[in-house]
Amino acid sequence: MVTVPFGALSDTLKSVRPSLRPGKVLVNVTVPLETAIGGRPTRTLGLWVGSAGELAASMVPKGVGVVSAFNNVSAELLSDLSRKVECDVLVCGNDENAKRVIMELVNTIPGARAIDAGSLENSRTVEQLTALMVSLNIRYGVRSAGIRITGINLDI
Ligand SMILES: NC(=O)c1ccc[n+]([C@@H]2O[C@H](COP(=O)([O-])OP(=O)(O)OC[C@H]3O[C@@H](n4cnc5c(N)ncnc54)[C@H](OP(=O)(O)O)[C@@H]3O)[C@@H](O)[C@H]2O)c1
Repeated sequence: MVTVPFGALSDTLKSVRPSLRPGKVLVNVTVPLETAIGGRPTRTLGLWVGSAGELAASMVPKGVGVVSAFNNVSAELLSDLSRKVECDVLVCGNDENAKRVIMELVNTIPGARAIDAGSLENSRTVEQLTALMVSLNIRYGVRSAGIRITGINLDI
């Protein structure tokens, strides 16, 4: 799980790279918020590669499954075990097995529901939602805004 500010993503991935063997799964939670360059947390930076998830995928050894997940889940909510998370977790990745492993993990969290959000390039959209969640948190004076996708029947 990589959960560092965007400015530290590249160095962090370089530092863990020697430990990443084929078959391992790396989950990118990091979002390229504009705060990385002194800007607002309600905006994201444009990345040539598309998204932080895709940047992570470009930096890991071959055979490591990179998945984007938890990008839209409040850390405060996740760390408070007395509360149900009560939101959907969009999971993106090109490695179907890695995605399945992380979706199963998500579904063990009370109230959380994993949504297969398709290939890793959809992380571009998912990461934009994080900036929106920050904006909603500020507007509504909360720290736990999340999303629910409706109209999909999932047997969990
Ligand atoms: N907070 C949320 O609710 C939330 C939700 C979804 C996505 N995200 C994304 O997740 C990422 C982390 O968010 P956060 O709120 O957890 O940020 P944070 O509290 O500022 O940083 C998380 C951890 O990253 C490590 N870190 C910070 N700067 C570092 C550096 N220069 N080099 C190496 N490690 C560094 C620190 O670990 P140590 O204390 O061990 O040094 C720190 O505790 C961001 O990209 C954010 O957009 C956050």
